[in-house]
Amino acid sequence: MELDKMDENDWKYHGEGNKSLVVSHVQLSRVLRLLKYPAEDSENPPQTAEQAFSQIQTIVDFSSNVMCSLLGDKFVHSGEVVKLPLEFVRQLSIKIQHHRPVWRCDKVMDIYSGCALCLPNLTSPLLHSPTRTPPLCIEIKPKCGFLPTSKHISKDIKTKVCRYCMHQHYKVSNGKWKRHSLYCPLDLFSGNRQRMHFAIRHLIEEPQNNFKVFKGGQCVYSSKEVSDESPDTNALLHHLRPYFLSTNNRVSSHMTSKSILNDFIQVLVNALLSGGGDGDEGQVTDRQGERRGFCQASHFNRERIRHGSQGLPSDSVLFRILQTQMLDSLDIEGLYPLYRQLEQHLQDFPKERTRLQIDGPYNETFLEKVQKWTMEDNGSVEFAAAKVHQYRFAMTAKDCSLMVTLVSSEEEEEDDEDLPPQRHVCRPHPFSSSVSILDLDPKPFDSISRQLRLDQKIVSCYLKTSGALPKGGLPLLSNRITATERDDCRLLFHPV
Ligand SMILES: Nc1ncnc2c1ncn2[C@@H]1O[C@H](COP(=O)(O)OP(=O)(O)O)[C@@H](O)[C@H]1O
Ligand SMILES: [Mg+2]
Ligand SMILES: [Zn+2]
Repeated sequence: MELDKMDENDWKYHGEGNKSLVVSHVQLSRVLRLLKYPAEDSENPPQTAEQAFSQIQTIVDFSSNVMCSLLGDKFVHSGEVVKLPLEFVRQLSIKIQHHRPVWRCDKVMDIYSGCALCLPNLTSPLLHSPTRTPPLCIEIKPKCGFLPTSKHISKDIKTKVCRYCMHQHYKVSNGKWKRHSLYCPLDLFSGNRQRMHFAIRHLIEEPQNNFKVFKGGQCVYSSKEVSDESPDTNALLHHLRPYFLSTNNRVSSHMTSKSILNDFIQVLVNALLSGGGDGDEGQVTDRQGERRGFCQASHFNRERIRHGSQGLPSDSVLFRILQTQMLDSLDIEGLYPLYRQLEQHLQDFPKERTRLQIDGPYNETFLEKVQKWTMEDNGSVEFAAAKVHQYRFAMTAKDCSLMVTLVSSEEEEEDDEDLPPQRHVCRPHPFSSSVSILDLDPKPFDSISRQLRLDQKIVSCYLKTSGALPKGGLPLLSNRITATERDDCRLLFHPV
């Protein structure tokens, strides 16, 4: 990729979040992640090119010096800042505009700075070859996987129902989503295969912005924002069938659909429990899993557990994410007084902002310094700053996405058509998987007051509306999950 010879025709729209827009190269396994600005600022950019460059450099530093150490370098790709020709960026922005979802168009792509973050394309890891089965890539935004235990918590419900499940309630009450998701992160992070299976099944059923599937780099399954229709699971099955059918020998097409979904989830669970694609499975297991327990709003039936608490292998991606999330040890309620203390201190001594590295730089010594400062709760401003920093690391880990890339490794065998068909029966799925974590930007310092207000809103909404409802309070769901479907859920649990 030569930066001075960029051609917008080599790039296409790939996706976007709230802060950035991503384009992918049509041949190379590369993406460019560009900043977005509110549409009202489109005439005059909110920051200079130098500021944009340094914003992206800060993201790279935070990812490589902080999140990489916390999450493990095998899972994290920090990328590099690139400076692109402005003409290229402008043409690109015109080219991709009509591919963008309308509801995201309250923001526009940054066409002023020419700066972008260049990353490997995790949805299409191989150079384009006309292979029969392009790589599959599953993006999961797992959210917070534990129940807080901080003594500063004022509302007991927060220690029983997880944040995601309460937030789901809030979002449905406010019309952000039409339907409830039955996904509960505590099930996904439990390390128990049955619970993980259940969690992923519900991500598929109601993906919202927590689940996407890419095939050969193209998104083939995701939710439409505030849509009345559920996403088309049959379309997903249609894409998955070629990957899984050869390993099954089932007759009725009904059975086949179910078993395809089953096998797909099984492969995902395996990838999430593995040590990150380098073959050495984790030996040490997180024994805290059981203590972290269940979310009262989860629809997983505990009586169904056939295998006791398994816990997460300590080298698995979920374990590393969870450990980082748990750096939020005080909960926002316990952190807030420290944040106020720090804020006051910074008002009185503005220069301290630099020494305490409030907005970075996230250099090599930063994490060590934070860890040292948290050792002693001595009322110092260093302690307050360090706890605030740790809380922000946890926020990043609660908001990151996971990419599970599955590459079918049976290409050569499949060409051999002379083999008797039995050979294909009940073979383990020949996938090689790798797992990465993306979206590891630092969360802004001043987002902490917003966090407190949001926490209060979510909890009071839950307390107001859930009491009168059945488990988990699911007013819109009754006609969606029928008794037969519940049976389906049960059928999905293969002994493992
Ligand atoms: N390295 C990557 N490879 C492939 N797809 C990516 C990559 N980085 C981001 N994406 C896609 O682009 C979307 C938006 O990127 P993200 O980093 O989450 O932006 P935001 O910070 O706005 O949330 C992601 O949800 C993912 O689907
Ligand atoms: Mg994102
Ligand atoms: Zn929950």
